[in-house]
Amino acid sequence: MANTILVGAQWGDEGKGKIIDVLTENADVVVRSQGGNNAGHTVYVKGQKFVLHLIPSGILRRGKLCVIGNGVVVDPINLVGEIDGLEKLGVQVSPKSLSLSETAHLVFPYHRLLDEQRELAKGKNKIGTTKRGIGPAYGDKVARVGLRVCDLIHPARFEVKLHARIAENNKVLKALGAKTLNFREVHAAYRKAGDRLAPFVRNTVVQLHEAMQDGAAILFEGAQGTFLDIDHGTYPFVTSSNTTAGGACTGSGVAPHRMDKVVGVMKAYTTRVGEGPFPSEDAEISDMLHAMGREFGATTGRARRCGWFDAVVTRQAAMVNGIDDLAITNADGLDTVETIRVCIGYKVGSRKLNYLPNDLEDLAQCVPIYAEFPGWRTPTHEVRDWKKMPAKCKAYLKAISELTGAKLAIASVGPGREQTIFV
Ligand code: GDP
Ligand code: IMO
Ligand code: MG
Repeated sequence: MANTILVGAQWGDEGKGKIIDVLTENADVVVRSQGGNNAGHTVYVKGQKFVLHLIPSGILRRGKLCVIGNGVVVDPINLVGEIDGLEKLGVQVSPKSLSLSETAHLVFPYHRLLDEQRELAKGKNKIGTTKRGIGPAYGDKVARVGLRVCDLIHPARFEVKLHARIAENNKVLKALGAKTLNFREVHAAYRKAGDRLAPFVRNTVVQLHEAMQDGAAILFEGAQGTFLDIDHGTYPFVTSSNTTAGGACTGSGVAPHRMDKVVGVMKAYTTRVGEGPFPSEDAEISDMLHAMGREFGATTGRARRCGWFDAVVTRQAAMVNGIDDLAITNADGLDTVETIRVCIGYKVGSRKLNYLPNDLEDLAQCVPIYAEFPGWRTPTHEVRDWKKMPAKCKAYLKAISELTGAKLAIASVGPGREQTIFV
């Protein structure tokens, strides 16, 4: 397998973790290049559930190298917890299987407190963040006041820098009426995590280039989704990193012309968790999926908002990411629906749009134009061969791929590894 970037084509939770796990079979290295532990990637292997937040989903297959790249923001205490959690479930995580970039930025408790305070201040206009401190941590990175993994593993330097950051942030937190932080406590906990993580820390840019020289195939595991991208998403209802394909290059140090393919993952319908525009949102499909016990967030447990497949959104995702191949997940979620709707354009007054307006006030005026497809009304979760898929299901998946403008490569009919059909 060549170097492949995998991105979410909607608003996150498209099933990226599951598809990464499937594709990892033919990869040597799996890299996370952006986001933090706001991500929640669910993988089922032989009935055992794993939820990955910072560690690439490739960790579940033996003999693969997983890399947390420079573009990720890392909460070290959380990362230690994730390593311990995986080991308890029998997954070995060693410096042979996991590398942590020395230039990845760190998330601190003041980032989480500021995230919470900013959400409170926004009131009903809140973003609905995961409260993991992601926005403030990326803010510090861009403002050039962030601390990095290489600081964490140099105790003397770390102490001085953290002291200054806590002093400044405590002033802000105090002014906001929020609880302030005790330097000693934070320092002790972070130093402990730093000692634990030190063996994993590498110059991951050099490591990835050496791996490529040795002929390794690399899989870049996107977090979040195209419309949560800081530049291309529904700003300000977005996350704070570039979730689109370009983010894989800047967040890993691998050049664009070394990338061979972009895979877009999308659900056969649409979901979004958190606030923000969602033109094809639909109460009926939401209720149906929630009643089936589906579509609850992997990180925060919040019920995801659900709606019909929006081809305007995925077409734009194909454009921004340069998607070659599509993996469509959760096709089985529509097994019982009689008539399936697909948003094929937006109407604004008498105008028709085939793209997402950037101005949210304009987007709020958009009324979806729907096409209808007959449901297949047959269970698909046991199908393993494209030829055996119900004809109406095949027609639907082909149609939404064509509307998106990329090639259908994978159809997924359940959360398990084996519930994957190569088209
Ligand atoms: P990610 O963040 O993109 O990795 O996606 P999440 O793990 O947050 O959410 C996707 C959910 O869909 C998880 O619960 C997966 O186990 C589940 N899933 C993925 N593909 C399928 C599928 O084809 N069918 C069903 N029923 N569930 C799926
Ligand atoms: P995965 O990788 C879905 C959403 C939050 C919120 C917005 C900003 O599992 O697809 P943040 O905490 O990042 O500042 O929140 O982004 N969000 C996600 N939604 N899947 C995710 O990750 C998400 N990560 C962040 O709900 O709307
Ligand atoms: Mg998720």
